[in-house]
Order: sequence, then C-alpha cells, then structure tokens
Amino acid sequence: MTILENAPTQLSEVQKKQVRSVYQEIATEYDERIPGEGPSDDTFTESEHEFVLSKVRAGQKVLDIGCGTGRFTVPMAAAGARVTGLDISRAMLDVTEGKLAAQGLSADLHEGDMADLPFEDNSFDVVTSMLALMHIPLEDRERVFAEVSRVLKPGGKLVIGVKNSLFEQFFKGDRFAAVDITDVEGKTLLFTKTRGGNDLTAPWYSFSPHELKALFAASGLIMTHLRGNSTISAWLADEVLADSGVAGVVRALEKNLGDVPPFNYLGYHILVEAVKPGR
Ligand SMILES: C[S@@+](CC[C@H](N)C(=O)[O-])C[C@H]1O[C@@H](n2cnc3c(N)ncnc32)[C@H](O)[C@@H]1O
Repeated sequence: MTILENAPTQLSEVQKKQVRSVYQEIATEYDERIPGEGPSDDTFTESEHEFVLSKVRAGQKVLDIGCGTGRFTVPMAAAGARVTGLDISRAMLDVTEGKLAAQGLSADLHEGDMADLPFEDNSFDVVTSMLALMHIPLEDRERVFAEVSRVLKPGGKLVIGVKNSLFEQFFKGDRFAAVDITDVEGKTLLFTKTRGGNDLTAPWYSFSPHELKALFAASGLIMTHLRGNSTISAWLADEVLADSGVAGVVRALEKNLGDVPPFNYLGYHILVEAVKPGR
C-alpha cells in the first residue's frame, strides 16, 4: 500500500479519536449543555423529538447511532421500541445506561464506530442518528450510509437530524451557541464553558440537503421527508425574537412551514427520513 492510499484512513482514525476523547470528557455535563438557554432552543429540541418519535412505533427494532447520553434512545425505549444504541464513547453510553435503569427501561448498548456496524444485514426497522453524523470524517461518509442501508430491513427507515450547510453559506455564526459553536471555516465544533475550563474541539462537517440526497442515492436509500428545524427563527436577530408577539408568530409559522419548500431547505438544522425500498 502506498503512503497516499494509507493517509486518509489514518486521518479518519485520528479524527475519530479526537471526537471520542471530547465526549469522554464532557459526558457527565452533556445533558446540561444541550438544551441551550432560550425559548428558541426549546422549540428546536421539541421539534427534534416530535420528528423522531413520530417515525418510530412500539415493537419496532430501532438502532440509534451516535446515541450519546440517550436523548432519543431513552424516549424511544419508553415508547415501546426495542432499541439498540451505539456510540464511540463509553462514558456517554454509561449516562444512557443510568437513565434507562432509573426509568426501569432497557436497551442494548454497544461501544463502537458507526462506520463499522456490528449488526447483521436487514436487522432493523428504523435507524436514527441525531446530531452525530457531522462528526464523521468526510472519507467515512459513504461507508456510514452504506452500513446503515445494509442493516436496515427492506422498507426500513433512516431518521436523522443534521446541521444544514446551506444555512451556513449565509450565516457563519452559530445562532443558538450557548455552549458550543460551529466553526464553519475550520470545520470544527467548539465546546466552550466546559467544567474542566478548557475549550474542546472536534471535527464537524455539516450536510446540505443535496449532499444527503447524493449519499442516499449511493447507498440505495430514497429521501421521503425533509423538514427544516428553526426555519425562520435562526435567520432573525435576537432583538427581533425578544418581542413576544413576533416570537409567537414565528413559532406558528415554523410549525406550518417546516415541511414546505423552500423553507424546509433553509432550516438551521434539517430533519430527514429516507427509506430503503423493497417491501
Ligand atoms: C452531539 S452528540 C449527540 C448525541 C445524541 N444523539 C443526541 O442527540 O443528544 C454526538 C455523539 O456521536 C458520537 N459519535 C461521534 N462519532 C461517532 C462514530 N464514528 N461512531 C459512533 N458514535 C459516534 C459521540 O461520541 C457523541 O456521543
């Protein structure tokens, strides 16, 4: 093997180690960081939950990749799905395990890399992945989607939430950046205000709707639903949203326009469902 052939794999491994070490360090504070600080953050997370849980039914076999501290793993298990969670960070999985035990729930948790899924072909009804695919090194992207397609049953669904690089073409700053900031140019996510006092960085590559469509096509999946999350609020200055009348109207519009082109393409994040045909 030449050095050139070898180089991308080494880079990918270095990046994944970096991601893992950041989440190992912030696992016990992750849940305090993620909800953000304002009403727009609440709307954002409510919208994520509504989207994911509307796609999962009791009794289905669901795989949550990059499951972290179980923000979706736990509610899906509570909704009666038979959930498997996979994450590269053991410390994040430990938090999920604690939450499941506290609620008398169970899920099958695995430490591993989503580019190399330790599961049989055609074994899940749904694969979910929220806020995690952006950490995948670019060279691993096709492999991850191929792995997802492989483990999905025919007729199974992929349900994901990713940051929208189309939005980033206009807005370089992070709109709801209480505790982490996307550095669009540097392709990193910066975790600020950590308990340890250090700013931590991990690789971060957002997706455009068009990139997702291409990745789906290459792995035999078909996009069936594209919803924009924070389609309007993310574009408005905080001072505009501080007016409760304006904020209420924006909230109502977002509820109604989230699935409608072109607004869905303009979301700060995009929530996407794709199906593996064949049933
Ligand atoms: C921002 S957190 C999201 C966690 C959870 N899905 C949520 O929405 O709160 C990203 C998670 O992806 C995991 N992750 C990153 N790269 C991964 C990989 N290659 N394989 C598996 N998990 C990975 C991280 O360890 C981390 O727990």
